[in-house]
Amino acid sequence: MKIAISGKGGVGKTLVASLLARAFSRADYSVIAIDADPDTNLAATLGFPKTDRLVPISEMKELIQERTETRPGQSGTYFKMNPRVDDLPEKYSLKHEGIRLLVMGQMKRGGGGCYCPENSLLAALMAHLLLARDEVVILDMAAGIEHLGRGTVRAVDKLIIVVEPGRASLETAFRVRKLAADIGLTSLAVVANKIHDQEEEKAISARLGNFEILGFVPYDQALVDADINNLSVLDASQPVSDAVGRIFNKLVAAG
Ligand SMILES: Nc1ncnc2c1ncn2[C@@H]1O[C@H](COP(=O)(O)OP(=O)(O)O)[C@@H](O)[C@H]1O
Ligand SMILES: [Mg+2]
Repeated sequence: MKIAISGKGGVGKTLVASLLARAFSRADYSVIAIDADPDTNLAATLGFPKTDRLVPISEMKELIQERTETRPGQSGTYFKMNPRVDDLPEKYSLKHEGIRLLVMGQMKRGGGGCYCPENSLLAALMAHLLLARDEVVILDMAAGIEHLGRGTVRAVDKLIIVVEPGRASLETAFRVRKLAADIGLTSLAVVANKIHDQEEEKAISARLGNFEILGFVPYDQALVDADINNLSVLDASQPVSDAVGRIFNKLVAAG
């Protein structure tokens, strides 16, 4: 199962990604979690120690040069479009409590998307992870979904867009849906996070129109407190874990 998670910054993408990764892992699936959000915090949320030492693949200059066969200072002229990447997940991922983690980093953007060695390597790696491997992939992305392309969307079982009460993240959800449609990705669903009460649940449902809603996750101050006190947010709230557990069950039942 390949699940991509998108949405506005701060809505809880990484929390949902982490709890889903843990749910799959605890159900004995082999799981690789991929941090593709420039604002990386998946490793820390999953409880990986020494997260400051993790270098995103997008910043591994020598590796990018070696695999795309570009020479230093000669970028942009020639590079290999199908670099070898099948060894990278093992080489550059870390494992913690049964979950493998890979920090991808950002795609470079130029006018109309940049045609460059960095993107070529990341695209090949993403294609490998989504198409050639049979483990569960949980992809933690930003609101831009440039890591996905026409060639890889068919492998994505679900694009989950996380929203929270308020106008901004809902507008982002509609924008993400448009971006997804542009690349032919239509299997998407919303997770509404940080819900205080039934009123909010109803208001969000009304605003979401014909979006599939995969689940509602309650707001829990215990998460905020755990975060402030540097404690694991994954274990901070039973109601939140239970809500994501129900989302996990739905995904498994559908997949
Ligand atoms: N249901 C919730 N209740 C309370 N706080 C939450 C909830 N979900 C997420 N948070 C908090 O909101 C902040 C942003 O969450 P995060 O998962 O990092 O968002 P994103 O990855 O979308 O930027 C974190 O401090 C997290 O602990
Ligand atoms: Mg995040």
